[in-house]
Amino acid sequence: MSERIALCPGSFDPITLGHQDIVRRTLAFADRVVVAVGHSPQQSKQGMFTVAERVALIREVFAGESRIEADAFQGLLVDYARLRGAGLVVKGLRTVADFEYEMQMALMNRAQHPELDTLFLAPDPAQSFVSATLVRQIATLGGDVSPFVSPVVLAAIGEKVGGAS
Ligand code: PNS
Repeated sequence: MSERIALCPGSFDPITLGHQDIVRRTLAFADRVVVAVGHSPQQSKQGMFTVAERVALIREVFAGESRIEADAFQGLLVDYARLRGAGLVVKGLRTVADFEYEMQMALMNRAQHPELDTLFLAPDPAQSFVSATLVRQIATLGGDVSPFVSPVVLAAIGEKVGGAS
């Protein structure tokens, strides 16, 4: 039987504990999970971490978990799914705003690639309010983000913001 591959796509700037929970839960639905950092060369929005740094952090976070890998992709998610032979996209849904945005993307992806299914998972309630955007903002302003990210990510944030975490 061929390997069932699921994609967990996102910006992951940086990966949070909420993301980590969704990625690990995805293992119940696939043999292999690819955490896929989507980006475009024209991206005007500058993040905290480069794409290469985001991928490296994801690899560190899941080191030793052989069914989880990290990669970066440009262009359409549906094209990347075809390239990887993935049949499933898995996303976490935290808020109604997430639902509206994610459902629209899922339906557009379905229209382009009818064999690709999107599965929405409920988040860990303890992490359901966490977003990478707010983690970056809090860290940049000197707040403590240790409850929201893993120790390797915390250390990397500390280096970016000059000691504050
Ligand atoms: O963490 P984010 O910002 O929700 O991640 C969004 C991402 C990268 C998963 C999404 O923008 C995406 O799939 N981009 C690839 C380009 C694409 O396929 N766009 C059309 C979606 S319908």
